[in-house]
Amino acid sequence: MAPFIVIEGIDGSGKGTQAELLRKRLEGGGVDVALTFEPTRGPIGRIIRDHMKDPFLDDRTLALLFAADRIEHIEKEVSPALSEGRTVISDRYAYSSIAYQGQTVDPDWVGVVNSDALRPDLVVVLDMGSSEVRGRIEGRGTVDCFEEDLSFLEGVRDMFLSMSGGDHLPENLMTRFLVLDATEDPEKISDVIWKSVTSISSP
Ligand code: TMP
Repeated sequence: MAPFIVIEGIDGSGKGTQAELLRKRLEGGGVDVALTFEPTRGPIGRIIRDHMKDPFLDDRTLALLFAADRIEHIEKEVSPALSEGRTVISDRYAYSSIAYQGQTVDPDWVGVVNSDALRPDLVVVLDMGSSEVRGRIEGRGTVDCFEEDLSFLEGVRDMFLSMSGGDHLPENLMTRFLVLDATEDPEKISDVIWKSVTSISSP
């Protein structure tokens, strides 16, 4: 089975850039890649994106919607691509739910509602402080409901770090973690991710 790689981190940590650099590099080596993201562009993803612009949902409802969107993502995008032998790179996955929704609802409950999500082979966490991402987020123009609150993002960051040590993870989400300093040069970060992906692709 081709590898399933997840890239996680707080808003502005460079996930999109790293996902794209990894895709180019893998494709350059002749590997077939599916680059996906959450929330998806599907019907549940659209409700979530509307909420993020102008919140109207209860926090637990939102956590369930993210979990439902994830099932759509796995069933319609991730699993089909993996069965065709394509390497999947997902920009965000269930770890974002535990980190973000876990700020306002019990993170272990968020784990439970994601307890049959497909296990990735590698989770890359792009680690960065909330004050460092401020400029990057503001430079993008549009800011979602979570990005406004830097102390919230600091809590999200801490949650990603504690998950990398195994905390709050249901059994299906325990896997290999690679935590990287996202303030480093993007090409340097990409090299480290590339080496790690190559090592799981050819054990
Ligand atoms: P994006 O900026 O990477 O497109 O993600 C959109 C927002 O959705 C971002 O603020 C993080 C948030 N999010 C959650 O709160 N829970 C989740 O499970 C996912 C996938 C994203």
